[in-house]
Amino acid sequence: MAILKILKYGDPILRQKAKEVTKISKKIRILIENMIDTMYANNGVGLAAPQVGESLRIFVIDVSKDNEPYNPIVFVNPKIIKKEGATAPKEGCLSFPEAFCQVRRYSEIRVKALDINGRPFVLEAKNGELLAYAIQHENDHLDGILFIDHARNIFEATEVLAANNLPQLENDKLLNEADLEELILQKEAKDKEGDC
Ligand code: NI
Repeated sequence: MAILKILKYGDPILRQKAKEVTKISKKIRILIENMIDTMYANNGVGLAAPQVGESLRIFVIDVSKDNEPYNPIVFVNPKIIKKEGATAPKEGCLSFPEAFCQVRRYSEIRVKALDINGRPFVLEAKNGELLAYAIQHENDHLDGILFIDHARNIFEATEVLAANNLPQLENDKLLNEADLEELILQKEAKDKEGDC
């Protein structure tokens, strides 16, 4: 067991497209165990292999609450096979210490992946819950996409990055999510109606 070093925003590995895992060897299993230990040691909800310098399609997530038992989920070669709805959570990332900003996400997703034993599974996350956007966040890491690329408000993101001495937004990486933004605005309008 080992706690691995987490790469910070600005490291080029975080922008690479990670490679598929061809065999879950002993070495890969050890990497996964160390990723889980590293996630817990840093109080993270998720960690992707590129964040520890391994450009491989692997991530781990644990969305259990403080009073619940540990429940790490391992995703090898994941694929998001369905995405629907919209939500705008405030996210952070272990590669961006102390920096949080609002992003655009789908509220419901279905993902398929292999577990640590190479067995396929399908997982569904609904209602815009933490698991749904954590999976999107970690899956993005495997394609060199970072949460700030989904920033809803680039002024907020710019300020947050500067305040935490992190490199600035990369304009060519910002995602055009007009459709998702439209869905978020509709949802916000509806939620407001409910308040009256
Ligand atoms: Ni992250």
